[in-house]
Amino acid sequence: MNNQPLHPAVEPLAYLLGQWRGEGKGEYPTIEPFVYGEEIEFSHNGRPFLFYVQKTWNTPDSYPMHSEAGYLRPVADGRIELVLAQPSGITEILAGSLSGSRIDLTSTLIGVSPTAKHVSAVKRVISVKATTLSYQLDMAAVGHDMSIHLQAELERQEDSSPLTSEASW
Ligand code: HEM
Repeated sequence: MNNQPLHPAVEPLAYLLGQWRGEGKGEYPTIEPFVYGEEIEFSHNGRPFLFYVQKTWNTPDSYPMHSEAGYLRPVADGRIELVLAQPSGITEILAGSLSGSRIDLTSTLIGVSPTAKHVSAVKRVISVKATTLSYQLDMAAVGHDMSIHLQAELERQEDSSPLTSEASW
């Protein structure tokens, strides 16, 4: 069990710590619109980054859909970086800014495995108002310019205290 205090570099992101659960909708010029359920957890182990783990599922049958995991790294002067891996064979490195409780990130590098769908750029905006976390993800992929792919709203789960959330591995 890790009881390390929050690293000072991560304090501006403390509002993210804990579990969030909600629903989203997806679209892209090449696909049928869809809806999904989603759970996100941000945790820490006292080092200067947050662990980020996300799982999604089809609604209403709960069949697993996309998932991703990575690290949110606050750096100097309100700048922030996100490093992510996805089982679809895609990796994202994004950089951007933190302003209050809004994070704006743009990819600096997308990696795709030999069989993954082609993605050339991603933008993510994540904001928290009161107990609601919302995000929008736009991407340039499979020959299309930057277009919206995902929009979701998640509610903070009451049993997840922002001050005691810790990495569980
Ligand atoms: C909440 C997370 C996500 C969900 C629920 C989701 C869901 C879907 C679904 C249902 C499709 C259409 C069927 C398919 O091709 O599998 C799709 C397509 C796709 N998604 Fe996502 N996705 C998510 C996140 C992402 C992310 C983070 C990326 C890229 C960084 C991404 C890239 C793509 C691409 C490239 C396609 C293929 C479009 C095409 O072939 O025309 N998705 N996604």
